[in-house]
Amino acid sequence: MKTRIGLAALIAVAFSAAGPALAQGPATPLVAQSCAGCHGQSGEGEGAIPAIAGYDREAFVEVWEAFRANERPATIMNRIARGFTDDEVAVLADYFSSLR
Ligand code: HEC
Repeated sequence: MKTRIGLAALIAVAFSAAGPALAQGPATPLVAQSCAGCHGQSGEGEGAIPAIAGYDREAFVEVWEAFRANERPATIMNRIARGFTDDEVAVLADYFSSLR
């Protein structure tokens, strides 16, 4: 019995250690986590939701400002864009442009 518990603990440790090693790309910043529900875990997009992984950094900031200003057609991003500060947008732009 003791051995089985020991083995289970060892397996648990092995799996948690493998977690970060298996993750691909940079760690997701907190502000980018709310995007995953629509744009996918790695910004890959799905169906009507466009992919944003690998988005050009400058274009990202421009598109964001256009959403905020209602200058780009949007069903939802115009509202989402207004919920983030310029500093947060910089973090988002850095992150999504760094993905492949
Ligand atoms: C509720 C779903 C939803 C969430 C959450 C969401 N998006 Fe979007 N996003 C969309 C949709 C839908 C579009 C297409 C434009 C539209 O209809 O608003 C879009 C478009 C975009 C575009 C423009 C892509 C292109 O085609 O040029 C960018 C950039 C973007 N989103 C970034 C983000 C980021 C960054 C976040 C997180 C802060 C985020 N989105 C959160 C649904 C979402």
